Amino acid sequence: MSESSSKFYDLVQAAVKNVNPYVAGKPIDELKREYKISYVSKMASNENPLGSSLKVATALNNFASNMSRYPDGSGHNLREKLASFLSVEMNQITLGNGSNELLELVARVFAGPGDEIMYSQYGFAVYPISAQIVGATAVEVAAKDFGHDLPAMLAAITPNTKIIYVANPNNPTGTLFRRDEWEAFISQVPEDVIVVLDEAYLEYAEHACNDGSYPNGVDYFREYPNLLISRTFSKAYGLASLRIGYMLGCEEIIGYINRLRMPFSVSAYAQVAAMTALSDPQFVTKTLRTNDQGMMQIRAAVEAKGLEVIPSYANFITIKFGENALEIYDKLLHEGVIVRPLANYDMSDYLRVSIGNNHENNHFMGALNKVL
Ligand SMILES: Cc1ncc(COP(=O)(O)O)c(C=O)c1O
Repeated sequence: MSESSSKFYDLVQAAVKNVNPYVAGKPIDELKREYKISYVSKMASNENPLGSSLKVATALNNFASNMSRYPDGSGHNLREKLASFLSVEMNQITLGNGSNELLELVARVFAGPGDEIMYSQYGFAVYPISAQIVGATAVEVAAKDFGHDLPAMLAAITPNTKIIYVANPNNPTGTLFRRDEWEAFISQVPEDVIVVLDEAYLEYAEHACNDGSYPNGVDYFREYPNLLISRTFSKAYGLASLRIGYMLGCEEIIGYINRLRMPFSVSAYAQVAAMTALSDPQFVTKTLRTNDQGMMQIRAAVEAKGLEVIPSYANFITIKFGENALEIYDKLLHEGVIVRPLANYDMSDYLRVSIGNNHENNHFMGALNKVL
């Protein structure tokens, strides 16, 4: 039966009918079930291959007796800690159930039917989804060398443009824009257009650009009140399962976002975990070192096979396999390695591989040798 002839289709809001749902990486248990494989390396969702700080596990164990209480809906303690960590004001921060929740809330605050939401070709999938959810027009601007073409994005602004999403580095391509390109862009965006700078992979990029050319959003949002910064604890801090991210912006906009946030969307466990994770910078340092080694190892191995990669500033690398990419993805699954096909990004010749720990990287490279 087609969707349009099904029972409730006519009752569904037009915007919802147009939503292309997010495609997530294949879960480990699903592969084990389907392929009867016992050992799996998941390198598909840019998670932290070291897990998370041991201090977080201890803090969560100690917190278990509080499970029956609702969390602090305002996340006071975590916001206080973040404010001091980032040298910003508490009322310039809001928390989200993952940064995804915040990315979508911005669309709900500022856009609706007739408005335009802009993002780059190969931009993160949640941007077009957020536009579709609110019934806005999704405007995709052609990428340059797989990254944001910021001058072209500026040129594409119309009186209907309400929001521009940019990710630095970008997922799924790992590309980066530098301070000079960013400053030329943000200084020319009209004040009534909201810019969301998604820094999900900030820690990796800041570390990789050791010449100081990474434009850290905190340095800019005071000067540009139309600028919002989104960040996550899912990557360098290894807390993806707990779903916690945060957004920085001027007090007024943070207030509008808080109006829409459902009460208690961020669990108390997530808040405790994030506070503890912030107190363990050594874990992040170890994460970045592991990522450096893995990135070098995987990049060298695939380039030695004559494969092209997109140079990446994050914790994943996108590799060109050509027209056999999907077949290679499937063969890797049979070897117990989950990577990410990118057909939904219109990059069907590519697979994205999250950098793993040493064991996972060797598993991937061994499997790739076999498959190729
Ligand atoms: C660019 C980018 N932004 C945001 C997110 C969302 O992260 P989370 O909702 O886990 O905070 C991701 C996750 O992969 C991402 O790649």
